[in-house]
Amino acid sequence: MIGHRNEVIVMLKPNLLKAKMRQKEEVLVQVQEYIVKEDLKKIGKGKKYFIKTYGCQMNEHDTENIKAILEEMSFEETEKMEEADFILLNTCAIRENAHNKVFGYLGRIKHLKEEKPHILVGLCGCMAQEEVVVEELLKKYKWMDLVFGTHNIYNLPNLLNETISKKQLEVEVFSMEGNIIEGIPVKRDSQYKAWVNIMYGCDKFCTYCIVPYTRGKQRSRLKEDILKEVKDLVEKGYQEVTLLGQNVNAYGKDLKENYTMANLLEEVAQTGISRVRFVTSHPWDFTDSMIEIIQKYPNIMPYIHLPLQSGSNEILKKMGRRYTKEQYIELFLKLKEAIPDCSITTDIIVGFPNETKEDFEQTLEVVEKCQFDGAYTFIFSAREGTPAAKMEDCVSLEEKEVRLQRLNERINFYSKKANDQYLGKVVPVLLEKESEKGEGTFMGYTDTMKLVNVKAEKKDLGKIVSVEIESVKTWSMDGRIV
Ligand code: 5AD
Ligand code: SF4
Repeated sequence: MIGHRNEVIVMLKPNLLKAKMRQKEEVLVQVQEYIVKEDLKKIGKGKKYFIKTYGCQMNEHDTENIKAILEEMSFEETEKMEEADFILLNTCAIRENAHNKVFGYLGRIKHLKEEKPHILVGLCGCMAQEEVVVEELLKKYKWMDLVFGTHNIYNLPNLLNETISKKQLEVEVFSMEGNIIEGIPVKRDSQYKAWVNIMYGCDKFCTYCIVPYTRGKQRSRLKEDILKEVKDLVEKGYQEVTLLGQNVNAYGKDLKENYTMANLLEEVAQTGISRVRFVTSHPWDFTDSMIEIIQKYPNIMPYIHLPLQSGSNEILKKMGRRYTKEQYIELFLKLKEAIPDCSITTDIIVGFPNETKEDFEQTLEVVEKCQFDGAYTFIFSAREGTPAAKMEDCVSLEEKEVRLQRLNERINFYSKKANDQYLGKVVPVLLEKESEKGEGTFMGYTDTMKLVNVKAEKKDLGKIVSVEIESVKTWSMDGRIV
């Protein structure tokens, strides 16, 4: 089906200026149904696909959609890249090292393609939305076959068809989001836990962040569509849903109806799903009514991911985060008081342009005060096109690395301290899969998102079992079913 390609290139390239645009007037998001033409459903027959996914849960969930689309076109999945006819990289743009990994991997694929010119190679996800990346691919990676953006997933059947039939490098990247597409099929990784998108994009424009450009304007899915998906999951026996969005607390703000994240969370909890959680929260939009709903429903997991980013008001201002460290701490303490035993994790960036020693010390002070259950910590990475990338920075990378190490030492200390509280306690654990430790050991998470290893039997998989915690480490715990 796939042969040598001629040099014609059809393009719709990403454009950062366009990606930044937001319409002023409130526009109701149009919903469009996903349809695949009958004649495209056979084009993958006898062929295998391999997808490698980088980045956040949003990307992982996109991959679940892409897999299902490919299987609707009769492709079969393989876990071995070497035996695939179609190799796709679903990429992440959030930091430089994610970029480098992808370009490194493309080098490996190039060798494979030299041996087997018939294979198709594609790149999608957030890097495909970046002008600089697409320019580089067009210059140095002409041997690739397909590049498509985060807003173009629904069109994959047509794009693949065009690539195959015209034998050309096909690039389709919409810079601006289009309609919300409902009805895209999904091949879920787990039979017990499911991701459910509740909104796409982000309008916060934190100055360091590329997401508002790569994922577009904030668009909430209609509540009817979300609830239908969750009810369907309950019927299929799913135990846990994670409501997904870059900034879930702002859910509904773009819809005409006066319906908020608190309303949605309540209705999802009422579907009878055993567990529901949501990521990611921006402190700015965390309302009291959300806290009340979390308190009211035992099936809403007492787990909140609340990115701090920095503990210095000066830096928070330069980041465009729209809160002060005092406001963050106030919200943190309110959550801890209202939701007993709630675990709170965070994201922190060190080395934002011109972060002083004092700024960094203030971040450490907030860490000492909040004693987070866990944190993802990063060194600032300049993303082309974002305001922070143009800011002057006189702090050396060595200094930033030292700061990161100091921060991680404190974060790990408090993770272990938080885990110590679990020793001897009996907690609910959703058993997900056999752990890497070996025979008879299974892994799962508590409702506070603590990783637990436990001896169990295959029949226990997918069940929420009571586990007594017998020993704790920094990142996991061991226990026994009681
Ligand atoms: N550099 C470093 N970290 C970043 N993040 C987002 N953009 C950048 C960047 N340019 C971090 C933030 C965010 C998490 C998903 O990634 O902490 O919360
Ligand atoms: Fe990026 Fe800020 Fe939006 Fe989060 S809230 S995705 S950090 S711009």
